[in-house]
Amino acid sequence: MQQLDMGLAQESKEKIADTASSAESKLIEFRTGRLIVGNCVDVMRSWKDDLIQLTVTSPPYDSLRDYKGYEFPFEEIAQELYRVTAKGGIVVWVVGDRINGGRSLTSFRQAIYFQELGFSAHDVMIYQKKNTPFTRSNAYTNAYEMMFVLSKGKPTTFNPLKVPTQRHGFEMLTHNKLPDGINKKKLGELKKEKTRTNIWSYAVGLGGTTSDRIAFQHPAVFPEKLAEDHVLSWSNPGDIVFDPMCGSGTTGKMALLRDREFVGIDISPEYIEIARQRLTQSGLSVEIMNA
Ligand SMILES: C[S@@+](CC[C@H](N)C(=O)[O-])C[C@H]1O[C@@H](n2cnc3c(N)ncnc32)[C@H](O)[C@@H]1O
Repeated sequence: MQQLDMGLAQESKEKIADTASSAESKLIEFRTGRLIVGNCVDVMRSWKDDLIQLTVTSPPYDSLRDYKGYEFPFEEIAQELYRVTAKGGIVVWVVGDRINGGRSLTSFRQAIYFQELGFSAHDVMIYQKKNTPFTRSNAYTNAYEMMFVLSKGKPTTFNPLKVPTQRHGFEMLTHNKLPDGINKKKLGELKKEKTRTNIWSYAVGLGGTTSDRIAFQHPAVFPEKLAEDHVLSWSNPGDIVFDPMCGSGTTGKMALLRDREFVGIDISPEYIEIARQRLTQSGLSVEIMNA
């Protein structure tokens, strides 16, 4: 944990607090990835309003009050997230339900709370797992989690990811079918690609979630492609991407590799150290600070 005591804490804290004074300062202050050890509620409380373009995060599932001995203050996190999100910014909240007998439905309760705070439920997306070991004897195998895409007002950025279409080129296309039931055909162009659906599928485990072995020292890593796809969709180069519960640093790795600024917080010094090593091994520059 030596890196956590490198004397950067106060200086970096001031930099964070100073951020938001101007768009220009945002770019300067966040050029290097920042990893902060602390309770994200306390850290966010020291920040100004309307700061963050994009948050991609995943909470400890089901408000486990005893998560590694830490409290999980969902409502306070949600309130602070709303406050620090820029107007037109996005929070992607990746969450599954505890399944123990039935489903807890915590994910939906959290989504409704976000909406009550003022977020728009811009989309409810599905993170489908291509391979999942979780089977139930009396229900279908659970193969997904939710990705709530919450916006503070109308989203300012949407860079739609595309997939190739099966057929493209010019064809006689049916149009204008009238009540007489007769199809009319007209030459039209089928495009080479179309916008993806809101169900995204990823392989999980080593080689799927990530190839960084060190990441698996954290128990709940989400796929780096998932993080990258959201980073590309809802932010532009130079924007600040944030993960208040960054775990092994997946969002940070993909944000920095895609030329965004990144700030991550985790309450566990052990997880911050995993994130630090992972980002460094990926050739990324990172500073550590204590809240
Ligand atoms: C599901 S994991 C995130 C994993 C991460 N997305 C990744 O790919 O590695 C949730 C994280 O939230 C952290 N956490 C829990 N409560 C927190 C709090 N109040 N403030 C900051 N981090 C917290 C936990 O230590 C844990 O690493």
